[in-house]
Amino acid sequence: MHIPVLLKEVLEFLNPKPNENFVDCTFGFGGHSEAILEKIKPHGKVLGIEWDNEKLKIKNEKLKIEQGLILVNDSYANLKDIIKREKLGPINGILLDLGLSSWEIENSGKGFSFQKDEPLDMRYAVQSSKCKVKSLTAREIINEWGEEDLARIFQEYGQERFAKNIARNIVEVRLQQPIETTFQLVDIIRKSFPRSYKFGKAHFATRVFQALRIAVNSELDNLKAVLPQALEVLEKNGRIAVIAFHSLEDAIVKKFFKEQAKSNTLQILTKKPIMASREEIKQNPKSRSAKLRVAIKS
Ligand SMILES: C[S@@+](CC[C@H](N)C(=O)[O-])C[C@H]1O[C@@H](n2cnc3c(N)ncnc32)[C@H](O)[C@@H]1O
Repeated sequence: MHIPVLLKEVLEFLNPKPNENFVDCTFGFGGHSEAILEKIKPHGKVLGIEWDNEKLKIKNEKLKIEQGLILVNDSYANLKDIIKREKLGPINGILLDLGLSSWEIENSGKGFSFQKDEPLDMRYAVQSSKCKVKSLTAREIINEWGEEDLARIFQEYGQERFAKNIARNIVEVRLQQPIETTFQLVDIIRKSFPRSYKFGKAHFATRVFQALRIAVNSELDNLKAVLPQALEVLEKNGRIAVIAFHSLEDAIVKKFFKEQAKSNTLQILTKKPIMASREEIKQNPKSRSAKLRVAIKS
């Protein structure tokens, strides 16, 4: 369903030991959590946070609760409150694995992939009584936001060179009919490049889809919100590990670690980010863009 990325390296750097407690802020299907649980037996605990309740339902049946796993359906942006509520402590390590799981692309039906014709949704999670998240869909952004705002997110979150052309064409098309599906959007993006433009290795819709996903799920804001909370709740000598999948996320983590290192609150363990080995990339091509940074609380 989902192969955990950089698993060996995460275990090596987080170094979980018997009876320690960890927080997995992006539980997903529990790949990393499961491996950590093995190491912290018999009395350690993993608090797994996942805002997509569908995933928790699938995984809950498989992972044994008696192993010391606490699952919470919430956003990691509320980390401090969640920990208070669950009365978990002391916390020896925190993990954030920020990528998209293969399930999102293959099975969610929410329009995460430009290679499948699906409704434009892109929300990881929908609002529920337990999980308060913004409920904005990609469809709403594409059909309701102004041209300038569209161009801004394509540029800022996707680093898309032709952001303005794409935004203009979206606004033009939606005057005739609403843009409901991924393939409608892909078609508009395709037509927004100059005729002479030579497409690179990445699919031409990659950047716009990334930008939309970031905007729909407030991904960068959530990351900025969780890092200081993680530092606050960690024990002295506790470790924080973050796996980022694009430069915007990685830049936020790098900047935060550097600032904290300057004020001696964190010590950086990875001078350069750790990347997947050739073998891992062969087995799981998605790991190619993963960058792991780890720091220890001083
Ligand atoms: C790459 S997957 C994690 C995979 C997991 N490490 C595993 O091995 O199965 C990232 C997960 O984080 C979740 N997620 C993203 N942002 C979140 C947030 N703000 N709060 C809680 N979960 C979040 C997504 O729904 C997704 O399931």
